[in-house]
Amino acid sequence: MFENTTKFPTTRLRRLRTPAIRRMVKATTLSVDDLIAPLFIDENLGAPQPISSMPGVRRETPASVVYEAKILADLGVPAVVLFGIPKEKDETGTHAYGDDDVVQNATRDIKAELGDDMVVITDLCLCEYTTHGHCGMVDYETEEVLNDPTLPILGKTAVSHARAGADIVAPSGMMDGMVAAIRSALDESDFSNTPIMSYAAKYSSSFYGPFRDAAESGYSFGDRSTYQMDPANSDEALREVEQDILEGADIVMVKPALPYLDIIYRVKHEFKMPTAAYNVSGEYSMVRGAVDKGWLDEKAIMESLISIKRAGADMILTYFAKDVATKLKK
Ligand code: PBG
Repeated sequence: MFENTTKFPTTRLRRLRTPAIRRMVKATTLSVDDLIAPLFIDENLGAPQPISSMPGVRRETPASVVYEAKILADLGVPAVVLFGIPKEKDETGTHAYGDDDVVQNATRDIKAELGDDMVVITDLCLCEYTTHGHCGMVDYETEEVLNDPTLPILGKTAVSHARAGADIVAPSGMMDGMVAAIRSALDESDFSNTPIMSYAAKYSSSFYGPFRDAAESGYSFGDRSTYQMDPANSDEALREVEQDILEGADIVMVKPALPYLDIIYRVKHEFKMPTAAYNVSGEYSMVRGAVDKGWLDEKAIMESLISIKRAGADMILTYFAKDVATKLKK
């Protein structure tokens, strides 16, 4: 690619780095259209509650979440992704799929208030709803997380979200066959036009720590390494994404984002699919914490999000959405 280019002093790459010309040759931009804001709704709360490991992020009440979504819509943020913390948990995650449960109610309320001004994406996982905190059904004797028995429950949950008005459902449990199960459940219930954003390459990551405080979704035994991916693997991510595309995923996601920019790059270049990246809770806390302490300049926030786009992401789920949208509006 480079054999025909000239050399210094004919070539001086600094010529294009003057303040005036710099912006003309900028190859990657971050727009408010790229942002998806995660929101936590806790059915047990009477007032919003700060999350200590995620400064600036709160758990919303069923009422305050609508207000928060309205602020985001006014800033031009196109979408939110909803996570629910139910009043009651049980072994099989019953409150993940009731018509009157936390995410279903919040979806209905946000859509009633904002309509097409806010795309509601619902996270489709059982870990916030199960007493054991795993993303699937569990055999207590063997402590195994069971794949196939989980699939119909994910299908049922997806349909309940769609019925409440969800624009996109987003399965995050890393069960094999989950996209196919959800696609056919939606199609059978007349929701063939509801897209699936699949958490396709989701790694078993320590960067989810603060989220587990936020969503009360920590597990009571073992870890998630029998279903989420090994951080050491790269080709396997392509196999995961390929399966999800074959099963009917409309948007594929890589998660986390910053420590996995190589995976975002490979996925985008291999499949050319609409590709989302999740700038997860630990990435947020790491950068936010350092900025708050004065160890990093605030520009580090924009730089990390631009890096995720440069790697190939079309959209970014990020707890910085509100801050960045505010900044972009100015
Ligand atoms: C649920 C889920 C998790 C996240 C999104 N959906 C946590 C996990 O898998 O343990 C993490 C999001 C974040 O860290 O911001 N399966």
